[in-house]
Amino acid sequence: MTKVRTGFAITMGMVVLVQTRALAQRACFDCHSNETKWPWYSTIAPVSWLVQRDVEEGRRGLNFSEWGRPHKEANEAASSVEKGEMPPRFYVAVHPQARLEPTEREALIRGLQATVAGSNGHNAAEDHDRQAVDPRR
Ligand code: HEC
Repeated sequence: MTKVRTGFAITMGMVVLVQTRALAQRACFDCHSNETKWPWYSTIAPVSWLVQRDVEEGRRGLNFSEWGRPHKEANEAASSVEKGEMPPRFYVAVHPQARLEPTEREALIRGLQATVAGSNGHNAAEDHDRQAVDPRR
């Protein structure tokens, strides 16, 4: 972000971003970021290769560590939470911190819509990238 447009927009955007990131960190980052914390059971075969496969597949689709880049799956992120597909049930069972309260779920859905996917069919991440490479600046 190179220009401050209005103080209000920046403040609201930042609040949403920070909130969303915190929630996603709890519920999604293990499988969809470069900040994977390998769980104790990931060292036990055959669970180890199952977990690794999950993280590799998860990252391929959506990597929160590359938040600034447009993702093919970014638009699905909010709906995957809404439909209860993500975070996967088995994962929540062994990672209670990933369990989201109804209000947190709502906040994450709305936050993902506003940040990763963009609220009106519009990708905030793509906008950010375009700004970064815009030769007119
Ligand atoms: C236990 C690991 C794990 C966690 C935690 C997890 N995911 Fe996933 N996710 C996967 C895997 C594996 C895939 C790819 C395979 C599949 O589609 O089931 C995937 C696929 C996706 C996709 C691609 C679309 C699709 O349905 O294939 C989206 C979007 C997604 N996840 C969003 C999220 C969000 C948002 C969260 C947090 C609320 C989350 N995931 C948490 C493992 C995880």
